[in-house]
Amino acid sequence: MALIIKNCAINGKKCDIAVDGNRIAEVGKDLQGNFDEVVDADGLTALPAFIDMHTHLREPGYEYKEDIASGSAAAVAGGYCAVCCMPNTKPVTDNRYIVKYIVDRAKEVDLAKVYPIGAVTVGLKGETMAEMASMKEAGAIAMSDDGQPVSTAQMMRLALEYAKGHDILICSHCEEKSLINDGVVNEGENATKAGLKGIPSSAEDIIIARDVILAEMLDAKVHICHVSTASGVQLIREAKARGVKVSCETCPHYIAGTDELILTYDTDSKVNPPLRTQYDRQAILRGLADGTIDVIATDHAPHHYEDKNVDFSQAANGISGLETAFALGYTYLVEKGIITLDRLSELMSAVPARLLGLECGKLQAGGLADITLVDLDKEYLINSENFKSKGKNTPFDGWKVKGKVCLTVVEGQIKYRA
Ligand code: DOR
Ligand code: ZN
Ligand code: ZN
Repeated sequence: MALIIKNCAINGKKCDIAVDGNRIAEVGKDLQGNFDEVVDADGLTALPAFIDMHTHLREPGYEYKEDIASGSAAAVAGGYCAVCCMPNTKPVTDNRYIVKYIVDRAKEVDLAKVYPIGAVTVGLKGETMAEMASMKEAGAIAMSDDGQPVSTAQMMRLALEYAKGHDILICSHCEEKSLINDGVVNEGENATKAGLKGIPSSAEDIIIARDVILAEMLDAKVHICHVSTASGVQLIREAKARGVKVSCETCPHYIAGTDELILTYDTDSKVNPPLRTQYDRQAILRGLADGTIDVIATDHAPHHYEDKNVDFSQAANGISGLETAFALGYTYLVEKGIITLDRLSELMSAVPARLLGLECGKLQAGGLADITLVDLDKEYLINSENFKSKGKNTPFDGWKVKGKVCLTVVEGQIKYRA
């Protein structure tokens, strides 16, 4: 099965990409040969397909919100060749049988590559460490209690020590529970205006600080999930300067949104960590530009209409993010001159690949044929009705963006065409 993509732009230069099997055979001008499929990509830009290190696919257990089939379809529609799915399923992905179930089901679906993330503690309860090595053997790519913080500093210490011995990356959802105190949005002026209970940014910062200190003490790796605060970025910047093995991600909603969005009581803007202030957002942008923030991950958190169509305080946390990530990143980072397209590509593909030990699809001969074609000139309105994801929950519905995913190739096979 041979494929050729004709006339796409790579780093601004027009060329063809010839694919043979799951690899790129050749990149160059006017490539000739016999191809089963020819894609005319005139006017489109080719990028290494994206890798999402933080996705919620909801299967097993919450298939009414999303399942592996709908989540994988959303992934390839968003330009992703691979997603790592979080363990807050039902039952929790805390053992090798569930890891294997997800791996097998994703292979049947055969759209995006799906890498399960196993739980750090049994049932995400924070009481007993889960069998992380056994899950790794079954195909888990990292471990996290996401949805919850790892309960205590002692549990995190033990987990980081164990993970270090088995070369496992722990991804930490940072939230000091005692400071939540029924809060539902970011604590500050907008929470007060809206009359909603606030969550202070220190709830996030304290656990970032805890985990950075533990990683430093143990000389272990730790990955901080969904950084949303200015002080969190600064804690990580300082830790990196000391040589701590910390990496981190932020999400498109902290790049494009602030807590002003809660003033309409749109429950689709309710997410954990909450959307923060403009001050925090600016610090996130600086962190992306100066390399403090390593990765843009979606924290794709699809929910059913019924989970969101309730009082703000009762609504589920989360934003359906796979199908808007590239456009929000391109519009709010590249178009605004904060970072280059090349850096956006690194944040969405090469760096997550490196952190996870995956091969990134490099657009060169011999590289894995994981390729996304985007139209950088295309302006359009986000319309969640068109999402492949079952989760239509996005506060960005109706927003005008630039940059559209047109085609996604996963290991040589076209898995999505707009
Ligand atoms: O907004 C969120 N949604 N934050 C989390 O930590 C969990 C996630 C979910 O699973 O819905
Ligand atoms: Zn989380
Ligand atoms: Zn999450």
